[in-house]
Amino acid sequence: MRAKLFYFSGTGNSLAAARKIAQRIDTNDINNIANFRGQEIEVNTEVVGFIFPVYFQDMPEVVKNFVNKLKFKNNPYIFAAVTCNGGPGFTLFNLDKILKSKGQMLSSGFTLTMPGNSVIILDLTSNLEIQKERLVNSEIKMDRMSKIIRKRLETGIEGEDKIKDRLEGSILGFVATKVYRAHRKFVASEKCTLCGTCQRICPESNIKVDEKVIWDNSCDLCLACFHWCPQKAIEIGNSTKSRIRYHHPGIIVKDMMLR
Ligand SMILES: Cc1cc2nc3c(=O)[nH]c(=O)nc-3n(C[C@H](O)[C@H](O)[C@H](O)COP(=O)(O)O)c2cc1C
Repeated sequence: MRAKLFYFSGTGNSLAAARKIAQRIDTNDINNIANFRGQEIEVNTEVVGFIFPVYFQDMPEVVKNFVNKLKFKNNPYIFAAVTCNGGPGFTLFNLDKILKSKGQMLSSGFTLTMPGNSVIILDLTSNLEIQKERLVNSEIKMDRMSKIIRKRLETGIEGEDKIKDRLEGSILGFVATKVYRAHRKFVASEKCTLCGTCQRICPESNIKVDEKVIWDNSCDLCLACFHWCPQKAIEIGNSTKSRIRYHHPGIIVKDMMLR
């Protein structure tokens, strides 16, 4: 199948989903959105797919910016799978809106409930039973979704576009990005060995490691640095000391390195 997949991922859930779907629909054209920063891309495949996490019931800014710049040569079948902690909110509806502004539409929009990674709002990552169950269920759902994608069925968008979610998401997003600005709140503790992992995986290229670790101010709060630090040396203010680190069990740090 001539399909092009674009993914964004902080802790590997969306990357694992992209790989699984790619395998099921027979394509190996999988692209990390973080590698196209600022570039205009033209797609000419018959099928285009987006796989990325939900942030504050909405699309991550980096994904929004990327889709806004995309050009579609043909009229492809477009699908999206958003990975989340159970509250996809209006993410898929916003993606559809952006696509419609380009004369396209989301033919099928799926949600995949996977382990949550947001130590900022809720911490469900510590319950291993829930994690396991979600991973098993999401695999089953991806098999079902892939059959739909292969046949290019137009199943519409899963869920509802509720005003309550829009309000909640905007407030949460606004507060969190103000309170948790990386350059103010993220710190590397004395456990840090200056190994540079955080710099190499940050999808925003927002981290520099020299004699110490420095965060700049363009951060989407994907939390890749926090979760992937091999020394568990990164903290976000004082609120994360007891939080466990999470990443998808099928993804290794090398998979997350840019380019
Ligand atoms: C900053 C931030 C905000 C999040 N907001 C939501 C949300 O509104 N609803 C939800 O269900 N999950 C939310 N999550 C959880 C992630 O969407 C979920 O864990 C996702 O699968 C992570 O994907 P990744 O491993 O590819 O980065 C949030 C995570 C982060 C880091």
